[in-house]
Amino acid sequence: MTKPIYILNGPNLNLLGQREPEIYGSNTLTDVEELCALACKKQGYGQVFKQTNIEGELVDHIQEAGAKGAALILNPAAYTHTSVAIFDALKTLTIPVIEVHISQPAARESFRQISYVAQAAKGTISGFGINSYLLAIKAVILTLDKA
Ligand code: DQA
Repeated sequence: MTKPIYILNGPNLNLLGQREPEIYGSNTLTDVEELCALACKKQGYGQVFKQTNIEGELVDHIQEAGAKGAALILNPAAYTHTSVAIFDALKTLTIPVIEVHISQPAARESFRQISYVAQAAKGTISGFGINSYLLAIKAVILTLDKA
């Protein structure tokens, strides 16, 4: 059976739609999940979609993605800019990892311009609102097709 695409989300993304809508838009994380499920299904993949506010739990989910997933799309949220634990977890994976952001961190505060995750990712898609996730699914499909 084809392995699913894992889509993992870090802290505060459960508040999407309410949280700083001028930056992150008005769609909820459930909207993102539904959009991504459709996009994955069109490409013949299932998805596993999770969100957590807890760093260690995100590490657990990354390890699970490595064991059970075809690829990982990861929006680590604030942990992007702080977490060596998430970087180390990603370094253990052999599946493609795409880093995703709704906003464009490079155009925001200076502390957002460092990503611990980018060094362990195949690529980063940011700044396209929730369409960043759809673009990441496209990137995953192109990468898996080439493999
Ligand atoms: C974010 C960008 C991060 O800098 C921020 O901490 C988030 C969301 C994004 O999707 O734009 O929580 O990852």
